[in-house]
Amino acid sequence: MTQDGTAAYEGLSDLPPLVQAAVQRARAAGFAYSCLPAQGELLRVLAAGIGAGVIGETGTGYGVGLAWLATGAHPQARLFSVEREPERAEASARLFSARPNVRVRSGDWSELHAFAPFDLLVLDGGGQGEGKEPPLGPETWLRPGGVLVIDDLSPLTGWPPRFEGRVDTARQYWLDHPRLRATQINVAPGHATLLATYIGE
Ligand SMILES: C[S@@+](CC[C@H](N)C(=O)[O-])C[C@H]1O[C@@H](n2cnc3c(N)ncnc32)[C@H](O)[C@@H]1O
Repeated sequence: MTQDGTAAYEGLSDLPPLVQAAVQRARAAGFAYSCLPAQGELLRVLAAGIGAGVIGETGTGYGVGLAWLATGAHPQARLFSVEREPERAEASARLFSARPNVRVRSGDWSELHAFAPFDLLVLDGGGQGEGKEPPLGPETWLRPGGVLVIDDLSPLTGWPPRFEGRVDTARQYWLDHPRLRATQINVAPGHATLLATYIGE
């Protein structure tokens, strides 16, 4: 989780209005883990790139990443996000209430599967394969050509990927998956994002 994500918006002007509103809510709730502004810019571009497709996100938080996605998305794109904490889900649902193409649901990340296949899938609160939970299978979540996004990684400096001295098997899963073509890019110093395109069966 991006510990300083919400704080990184301090003093920034010219944010898209929806992003500004989401950041205010995250701040007011004392929620620190919003995506970084640079990650948000990337989400905005990726959302625009899929046209009138389907976008999914696990872990809405207070809706900052979703606001970037919605800002970039085609007016006919459909966006779905799932958040485990009801208070966060409700706050985010209110934020997007004027946008009928954006739906926020309260529940476990796995419930997002009801809206698959996705053209763009952002894993920010489940599905990445962190802890004991296995990572999701891209075959049943993504449309061929669909793009998967995982942020808040340490920059890749060797192979296999390591985190805190151990092989990062979750990241290895994504970067080595035979049905994905994946890479990592650094969006800010010390902050990398994994991007993977599903190439189909
Ligand atoms: C890093 S924050 C999300 C930040 C948000 N996507 C943004 O860009 O501002 C992770 C969120 O995932 C939620 N979360 C964690 N586990 C979850 C699960 N199993 N199902 C749904 N949401 C979950 C947390 O409650 C938290 O709000």
